[in-house]
Amino acid sequence: MAATLLVLGGGRMGSALLSGIFASGSLKPGDVVVVEPGVERRFELAEEFPGITVVDTPEIEHLDERTGVLLAVKPDIAESVCRLVGGLGAQRILSVVAGVSAQRLEATLPGPISVVRAMPNTPALVGAGMTVISGGSHVTKDDLDWAEDLLSKVGAVIRLPERHLDAVTGLSGSGPAYLFLVAEALIEAGVAAGLSRDVASTLAAQTIYGAGKMLVETGETPESLRAAVTSPGGTTAAGLRALESRAARSAIFEAVMASAERSKNLGR
Ligand SMILES: NC(=O)c1ccc[n+]([C@@H]2O[C@H](COP(=O)([O-])OP(=O)(O)OC[C@H]3O[C@@H](n4cnc5c(N)ncnc54)[C@H](OP(=O)(O)O)[C@@H]3O)[C@@H](O)[C@H]2O)c1
Repeated sequence: MAATLLVLGGGRMGSALLSGIFASGSLKPGDVVVVEPGVERRFELAEEFPGITVVDTPEIEHLDERTGVLLAVKPDIAESVCRLVGGLGAQRILSVVAGVSAQRLEATLPGPISVVRAMPNTPALVGAGMTVISGGSHVTKDDLDWAEDLLSKVGAVIRLPERHLDAVTGLSGSGPAYLFLVAEALIEAGVAAGLSRDVASTLAAQTIYGAGKMLVETGETPESLRAAVTSPGGTTAAGLRALESRAARSAIFEAVMASAERSKNLGR
């Protein structure tokens, strides 16, 4: 049976996308074939998504000209898996593989096949991802619409030229880790200030979640939201002054730049 969507790699990202896609009702389980070499993982996938086809290798009968391929394997095998599926006749490939350019994937393919490259982040695993997509040399608007539609099931999507993906990696790709570090520090500080670890953890998580939700939902700038909670001479002003005196803003700036630079070097 030819699939509407052929998923290569039923790991965390592959299954997060499937959850989002099925929850949205945009595809039926019978439309999807997942290729996954791990025997145990294949059983788990079949249990989690009843009705999908799970196989250990892609076959020519899984593809026709309408089949979209989602490449969700680890970077070290992405090119060989892409070559394999290209040889089977794939016409449209969406790669969520970090650090492997559309050009490198295209070089494995037998002809001018559409490759859309996506840089998602880990909140996609809970439906709150930020994904940037870029088109390779042969993509059409239709291909980008298709990719955006799929990825929008696990969060927000924007389109940018591929040259921006290192900067995207530095900001939204690595960004969740910076905020997890902030959460750790808030928890430690809350404990030092006398709260139990449980209470401090709840306060830290909900504070970061709530601040993010305000940024997304109010459309206000971070500066105006910050100003609105900072009364002159008040408690928040004292906290912010301590942060600025320790160059917190500059540390975040350096983190994004360092991650972007590392991404650029890894992609070479
Ligand atoms: N997780 C994220 O939040 C995130 C964010 C941004 C980008 N990404 C990218 O998404 C990709 C997948 O990440 P992940 O976190 O989902 O990794 P993962 O959980 O390790 O999933 C990869 C899956 O691919 C399977 N696989 C191995 N060889 C295969 C083959 N030849 N054909 C088909 N499937 C094969 C693996 O099976 P075995 O375990 O049996 O080898 C595994 O189940 C990576 O390239 C990563 O850079 C992930």
